[in-house]
Amino acid sequence: MIGIFDSGVGGLSVLRAIREQMPGLPLTYLADQAHVPYGPRPLEEVRAFSTEITRHLLSRGAQLIVVACNAASAAALHHLRAAFPQVPFVGMEPAVKPAAECTHSGVVGVLATPATFQGALYASVLERFAGGVTVLQDTCPGLVAQVEAGDLAGPRTRQILTRALEPMLAQGMDTVVLGCTHYPFIIPLIQEITGPAVRVIDPAPAVARQVGRVLAARGWLQGSDGPPAAMTFLTTGELEPFKALLTRLLAGCCPPAQNDSCEAVRWHGGSLA
Ligand code: DGL
Repeated sequence: MIGIFDSGVGGLSVLRAIREQMPGLPLTYLADQAHVPYGPRPLEEVRAFSTEITRHLLSRGAQLIVVACNAASAAALHHLRAAFPQVPFVGMEPAVKPAAECTHSGVVGVLATPATFQGALYASVLERFAGGVTVLQDTCPGLVAQVEAGDLAGPRTRQILTRALEPMLAQGMDTVVLGCTHYPFIIPLIQEITGPAVRVIDPAPAVARQVGRVLAARGWLQGSDGPPAAMTFLTTGELEPFKALLTRLLAGCCPPAQNDSCEAVRWHGGSLA
């Protein structure tokens, strides 16, 4: 079983890609909606949440953990690998590399949360891949909350995106990197604002391919191309709104089916039960 987590529903964009490539893998997804958004929080706090969520997913039988959150990857990936040395992890980093490879104008935009921009991971991505390219950044305050509220195209969501993207477009940006897993759900609106000539990079398919490579290296891929396996969805927030949003965000790919389950889990102090 693969354990996947995010601060909220954003990591479903990664779950969706994993499901499309390897439908036969049993998946358990945990949305830490009691704490969303992670982006404005101190890195130590996000690290503590990520460590306990990992422990919880492992206690449910997860054999590989996908940190489907750029903020949690920035804050905790290094620490998680050290704390659980026997467990394979797949994390996220803003896809500056493919953006730098495909930009013609030499101007790339990155939309991500403050935690992601602060982490050492992002600094290292820029150092390794952004040579000769101008990278513009925006934290899009409030945008994660809009996606959590299911507002994928309303006036407020449009306003936040327009404020972020227009100055980037004015500086010649031709490629935009989605450095937050919530944002693939608003690609239609992003593309409407940028126009069709701007390339939008969603890293989820590449992350799913990396999951496949890690599983293959351990000989754990058998059955992954088989019939759809059961999925379990967990939230630390309110169950009913979570279910409604799940159905909406996964429609067209893998809407929760009869044999999938959906449960609430609760934080008690620093522990999940
Ligand atoms: N979806 C997450 C990310 O990729 C977290 C967003 C947040 O909670 O601030 O960064």
